[in-house]
Amino acid sequence: MDSTGRSKLKLSVVACLYVIIVLYSSVEQVSCGAERILTQVRPRIVENHSRSKHDENPVQKSVQRCPRRCLCYFNVAYCASKQLTILPAKFPPGIKYLHLSKNKLKIIPRDKLGMYPSLNTIDLSDNFISQDGVKRRSFANLALLKRLHLNGNKFTHFPSSLPPSVVELKLDNNSISVIQSESTQPLGNVTSMDLSRNKLTNAGIRNSAFLAFRSLVNLDLSFNKFESFPKDLSSSIEDIRLNNNRIKYVTTGVFRFPAKIHHLNMRGNKLKETSFSYQSWANMDKLIFLDLSENNLLFVPGVLPRSLSILLLESNNIENILEWSFSSVPKITQIRLSFNNIRHIDPAAFASLQNLQYLDLAHNQLLHYPSNMPINLQAVFVEFNAISNVHGDAFCPAYAQTTFQRSKLNMIVLIGNPVNRRSLFSAASYCLSSAEVLVFD
Ligand SMILES: *[C@@H]1O[C@H](CO)[C@@H](O)[C@H](O)[C@H]1NC(C)=O
Ligand SMILES: *[C@@H]1O[C@H](CO)[C@@H](O)[C@H](O)[C@H]1NC(C)=O
Ligand SMILES: *[C@@H]1O[C@H](CO)[C@@H](O)[C@H](O)[C@H]1NC(C)=O
Repeated sequence: MDSTGRSKLKLSVVACLYVIIVLYSSVEQVSCGAERILTQVRPRIVENHSRSKHDENPVQKSVQRCPRRCLCYFNVAYCASKQLTILPAKFPPGIKYLHLSKNKLKIIPRDKLGMYPSLNTIDLSDNFISQDGVKRRSFANLALLKRLHLNGNKFTHFPSSLPPSVVELKLDNNSISVIQSESTQPLGNVTSMDLSRNKLTNAGIRNSAFLAFRSLVNLDLSFNKFESFPKDLSSSIEDIRLNNNRIKYVTTGVFRFPAKIHHLNMRGNKLKETSFSYQSWANMDKLIFLDLSENNLLFVPGVLPRSLSILLLESNNIENILEWSFSSVPKITQIRLSFNNIRHIDPAAFASLQNLQYLDLAHNQLLHYPSNMPINLQAVFVEFNAISNVHGDAFCPAYAQTTFQRSKLNMIVLIGNPVNRRSLFSAASYCLSSAEVLVFD
């Protein structure tokens, strides 16, 4: 049997026996890989409820006092969902973790929580607290407080008098429209802040109020009402979520100094290709992940940060991929363009992207399998297009020396295309090696 015949045989075995199972498990693996990247970029802080060796022994603890409707266990008091309207008293003296979420609290009385200076975490989420319910000494004397959860309350302004020791601050799901710099000034130790699902606008951020967060790493501003990228952010930020706002422009002045930001989510805004200029990305030369999905892009934006590794452009209105569409992102490893209206791809568009490994063109209107793919590409997703013919050299890498040069492709997903099998088998006999998975229906 000649090598072409062998390749055909392997191909049909793969196609007939493994079709769907191989496909879906592999797809999952690849998208898991992508998720893993995301998780690495956004570290989560995990609460540690285990006892430190300085805690008193459990026998002593079990006879400790505890408010009537709460459960106390070691250094934890659990009072969630108890219809509480006033803050309970008489917690165990060494308490570290206080759970008060889903109650009906409106006011945090002054100096009450300060009676428990060992508090590390207070969860006051889903209550009825507004800025009027937080007094000047509501959180006084809590020098060890690291985590404060005030999400799902009634704040319309960023509360003042929050404890300066706080590292993780949750204020999401309130109605905050104004942030004054006087209230943010003491919060220089906050590393993770969630302000998603509020009513923030650009004008509501007064006097560069965000600059005070000198240690901020993770900032969530998603589901607000920003119309342009908020200015004067702290250069310490590594990960910012601005998805689901109304952003039309990324103007200059986002970061005053070279910033550490590597992960930026701007999905679900009103961005066009004209929304960006070279100045938009000033001081963002560490950015590796950019999500511009679900915007109003007709073309791939011509000016993107050169450092990008992962670019998401799903669910826009892109019709054509031009020769220079990706020339501003030479280091790109992953491009996702699914759910656009792509009909035409210039043969030179991807060819010289030496680092590109993953290309998603699913749910577009391609008539041909895109050829001239870069040498290191490993996975191509083109399901649900209108691909019928696969050209003979379609799987051969761009600038191949011979028609037999093997590509590194190990996954090609062709489901939901009216593929002509004869053209597919013939194309596959050239540059695919036997380990590759090829799927169609
Ligand atoms: C939790 O804290 C204990 C004691 O302080 C420590 O030994 C343990 O490693 C911590 N666990 C995690 C997951 O941080
Ligand atoms: C927002 O907060 C309310 C309580 O104020 C809660 O019922 C709701 O589940 C929260 N929504 C989200 C998305 O967290
Ligand atoms: C802020 O963090 C620094 C470094 O961890 C620490 O020394 C300082 O005491 C913290 N400030 C407050 C107010 O807790």
